[in-house]
Amino acid sequence: MAERDRLKWNRKFNEMPDLLAPRAPSSLVARYYNEAPGREALDLACGGGRHTLFLSDKGFHVDAVDISEVALTKLAPKVDPDRVRLIEADLDSYTPEKEHYDLIVMTNFLDRTLIERAKEALRPGGIMIVETYMEDPENEKRDANPDFLLRDAELKELFLDWEIVAYERFWNETYEKYRMKKQGIVARKI
Ligand SMILES: C[S@@+](CC[C@H](N)C(=O)[O-])C[C@H]1O[C@@H](n2cnc3c(N)ncnc32)[C@H](O)[C@@H]1O
Repeated sequence: MAERDRLKWNRKFNEMPDLLAPRAPSSLVARYYNEAPGREALDLACGGGRHTLFLSDKGFHVDAVDISEVALTKLAPKVDPDRVRLIEADLDSYTPEKEHYDLIVMTNFLDRTLIERAKEALRPGGIMIVETYMEDPENEKRDANPDFLLRDAELKELFLDWEIVAYERFWNETYEKYRMKKQGIVARKI
């Protein structure tokens, strides 16, 4: 599975380099990163690194994990190596250090078991921001794998015993190829 993901994403990024173009952070990350009680961050499936770069700029130390060496190689010259650690790893099995982070960001990527592993990696009081595509009859991409789409209100169910700082449903950014509904949550570990 991991090898297939690696090849798939490397091919995508080689064929469509625009996918790694500089991008603004998601609105949820930009509005809520400051809720984090400290400055240790983890960016899961960092891709082009929009959140890694944004958070590092805001004074965070960031561990940025992705399976694609094409994405990480492109990101490497843009980061301050004193603040950012790029980690090439398969998130199907990667287990981040326990209770180490103040902020964990996972956007446009869905692995429900990873959310559980990531919860363990947050310090009490830490903030997790998860944002990705969800089921919607008006989604333009009709053949999206349903395993990678959130069900309605699913993020709220995944963070039942957490303090919910924000929960939103919205349409994706206009630069994306297909118009897709998204769901995002900002949750604090109690
Ligand atoms: C749609 S991009 C999202 C990038 C970034 N989070 C953002 O929102 O801009 C999905 C990323 O997940 C990474 N990815 C896919 N499967 C993975 C896996 N098993 N382990 C680690 N990264 C993976 C891809 O390489 C790609 O960079």
